[in-house]
Amino acid sequence: MTFDLFDALPTDPDAAPAAEPLAPGAVVLRGFAREAGPALLGAVGEVSAGSPFRHLVTPGGLRMSVAMTNCGERGWVSDRTGYRYDGVDPDSGRPWPPMPEPFRQLARDAAAAAGYADFRPDACLINRYLPGTRLSLHQDRDELDLRAPIVSVSLGLPATFLWGGLRRADGPARVRLAHGDVVVWGGPSRLVFHGIAPLAAGDHPLTGAERINLTFRKTR
Ligand code: SIN
Ligand code: FE2
Repeated sequence: MTFDLFDALPTDPDAAPAAEPLAPGAVVLRGFAREAGPALLGAVGEVSAGSPFRHLVTPGGLRMSVAMTNCGERGWVSDRTGYRYDGVDPDSGRPWPPMPEPFRQLARDAAAAAGYADFRPDACLINRYLPGTRLSLHQDRDELDLRAPIVSVSLGLPATFLWGGLRRADGPARVRLAHGDVVVWGGPSRLVFHGIAPLAAGDHPLTGAERINLTFRKTR
């Protein structure tokens, strides 16, 4: 039995990742980050060695169930005084780790595939979910430049993404996001309410019992 050399190639050039429309200005790019997954997760390890994951406190005093860290010029933080982007990690007192090049490239490529040319994120929020972790419906609205999209990369355990509307009361659709899926939302969908349902237990070959999400933002 012989194997065609091309069978061994990691990607089939004819099989472009499927872009699944979610709403005007919003798409799911199935498997877009699958190939880069191990490199992205390795870089998450480097970032979190410099700025470890932590559970932020909301302005209302609740401890978030998602653990977060950031890389890039600025990072998203929450405390009793509110939400903001900050150039300094409040835990370390130092700037956030720089955005790894594979992060920057993937974010740019995914945005372009979704129709947003020349996306240059200055911040990447990294979320870590364990079984039971959830993220309630919210808008990403702390960025000054709302013309740029949000690029969201799912790694590890699958999750149920809650995709609502422009009003908090709009009942959300449930969208399953698996390892390597990328969601891009901008334009008329930029301020759509979204969240993550409580994570189901599981065991992923690359992340074990965790889901990691990267969200790339242009904050100013
Ligand atoms: C977020 O809204 O910041 C994260 C969404 C996700 O984890 O998929
Ligand atoms: Fe968000």
